[in-house]
Amino acid sequence: MAQSKTAGKPPEQTAFSEAEIAVHWKDEGYFEPSPKFIGQANFTDPGWFEKFSLDHIPECFREFGDLLSWDKYWNTTLDTSHAPFYRWFVGGMLNASYNCIDRHLGQYKNNAALIFQSESEADPPVAITYQELYVRVNEMAALLKDFAGLKAGDRVTIHLPMTPELPITMLACARLGVVHSVVFAGFSGEASGQRIADSQSRLLIGIDTYYRSGKLVDHKPAADLAYEEAKKEGKAPEKVLLWKRFKDRYASSAPIVEGRDYLIDDLLPKYRGREVAPVSMPADSPLFLMYTSGSTGRPKGVQHNLGGYLAYATAMSKYYQDIHPNDVYWCTADIGWITGHSFIVYGPLALAATSVLYEGVPTFPDAGRVWRIAEHLGVNIFHTAPTAIRQLRKLGPDEPKKYHYHFKHMTTVGEPIEPEAWRWYYHTVGKDEAVVIDTWWQTETGGILTSTAPALHRMKAGSTGPGVLGIHPIIYDDNGKVIPPGSNRAGFICIQAPWPGLMATIWGDPDRYVKTYFQKYNKKAGSTDWRDWPYLAGDTATEAADGYYRILGRMDDVINVAGHRLGTKEIESACLTVPEVAEAAVVPVADDLKGKVPEIYVALRVGVPPSDEIKKKVIAAIEMQIGKIARPKAVWIVADMPKTRSGKIMRRILASISNTLPVGDISTLANPDIVEQIRVDVQRPKPGAPK
Ligand code: WTA
Repeated sequence: MAQSKTAGKPPEQTAFSEAEIAVHWKDEGYFEPSPKFIGQANFTDPGWFEKFSLDHIPECFREFGDLLSWDKYWNTTLDTSHAPFYRWFVGGMLNASYNCIDRHLGQYKNNAALIFQSESEADPPVAITYQELYVRVNEMAALLKDFAGLKAGDRVTIHLPMTPELPITMLACARLGVVHSVVFAGFSGEASGQRIADSQSRLLIGIDTYYRSGKLVDHKPAADLAYEEAKKEGKAPEKVLLWKRFKDRYASSAPIVEGRDYLIDDLLPKYRGREVAPVSMPADSPLFLMYTSGSTGRPKGVQHNLGGYLAYATAMSKYYQDIHPNDVYWCTADIGWITGHSFIVYGPLALAATSVLYEGVPTFPDAGRVWRIAEHLGVNIFHTAPTAIRQLRKLGPDEPKKYHYHFKHMTTVGEPIEPEAWRWYYHTVGKDEAVVIDTWWQTETGGILTSTAPALHRMKAGSTGPGVLGIHPIIYDDNGKVIPPGSNRAGFICIQAPWPGLMATIWGDPDRYVKTYFQKYNKKAGSTDWRDWPYLAGDTATEAADGYYRILGRMDDVINVAGHRLGTKEIESACLTVPEVAEAAVVPVADDLKGKVPEIYVALRVGVPPSDEIKKKVIAAIEMQIGKIARPKAVWIVADMPKTRSGKIMRRILASISNTLPVGDISTLANPDIVEQIRVDVQRPKPGAPK
């Protein structure tokens, strides 16, 4: 089915961190979506791209707002009077929990809203119908309101794994207009505590235990650590509410702290059958915060507002994920990341679909697990990340063939996908039947920015596609000159016009919002015209002659590990908590499975001899302060860091050494000799390693 190849020069090398070591793939051939897919697709009118052209912004986005049910219709689609702080659907009032649950009860109350699959294969899947979701969300909302005294605008930190209690808690918050801040369960207690403090959350909601890779993880100690961390900053939450993984027992080793910790499952019977009216909230009030890494040490609380976010997540789910009410849709992301918010919870539920929730890791207990789940549940839309694709392919290249599932649509998201891995996904996982979309977007953008439209565009391995409806990318060079469209030359990808999914601000730090995302290419300070404020995504990219974008990597100090964003500054500051360490530098290293992994360089305080003990301490500090996902591939103790004359550590050089690439010109360094010393040490053949 492969079609013509477009000729194209390989993209030029850019000179920035991750992109510098990005792989540059040759241009690939095309694949067509099947007539069967096109025949049933939600988005088949190519005329819509004209309807969403730059001239039609912002009114074209009415189409997205109209997918929701409003208590009061808006009067202004977009208010730019404080650009780049945009307000969408101003004057409109609505509730997210109503849109994801109540409005479906008439037609779909007996459909499964969620199907939960425990990691333990002995446990059968549990379907939660829209009716049951309604009951459970109402009871939880009643508890949050009456027991915890929460009201609209309050914040709650939720540190929960992938069990139904997580979406139920989120939707209960949304029902009350309470702002949730979900922290990925794999993050440490300390990381959760910092987020409680920053958001000034009134509650922390956790769970006793959960399954991960065949083990029961004791999660309650993380709540204790989080509480202590927030308390240190003078921001202790009022209460800690805990779910029980097994309803008949409390399974954690950590004791319940009297007067502070409460077991939700024990309190809930008091609220049995209680209904709480959804609180009608302004479209431009916050729905949730999601902390993400950036170039400075402190993670930032990306604030998404109700109307714009929900409209955008719903529209992307409908037109790009092709979700219909009777689809069984499975996104393997964790709800603790933005992909899970938009494409497990809010988008699919707003469309009355069935969303699968899987507790565990995709390869447990073997590489066929994912395909067994897909077959058993009749999943027809599948959504995952390159890391999982690479891993499933490595461990079980022929497994998908053994199972009788049929996907109509598949998504890849989170990192660039190698054409080889893409082809396996398409041919073997998708059985040459499913359309594949490669969606590029970010926590900050609420939903997809670039992708092929599944029924309208041809697919091309390794490229994401053109801008989605209403998204108009542009690539600038470092000096603000536009890189000619279609030239395959790398630069900084920006979005020209605002869209409803764009974050509203950074929680408590509006200056950082402007500085990080808009300052670099702002055309006129103080302007209220959105044309003056291109959104800087922070990725380097190229655009091919066919208008498809290829994302090369981050331009800032962010490492994308297995599709998860980690700030190098966060990792470095964890290293510096080890008393023996004087300086630390983190660099991304290419990894066959995870895309990139961090490698650490540390210089010790004067007089401290290097030892394996110190390396272990560095690793322990990272796991403690961030979580196991940030665990480095290696820790190198160096006599000194390569530095510029002004004393800046040259991470670029360390990254080249770690990736066995040429170090380039080092003549301007203050200490060029150190480079060779480090290189010999790091690249020395490992004992026992094949030559
Ligand atoms: C990267 C995840 C290449 C990119 C939704 C972006 C991608 C960062 C893709 C955001 C893709 C995401 N191809 N790179 N399809 N999707 N990225 O905030 O560097 O966790 O800036 O959002 O992931 O990560 P985040």
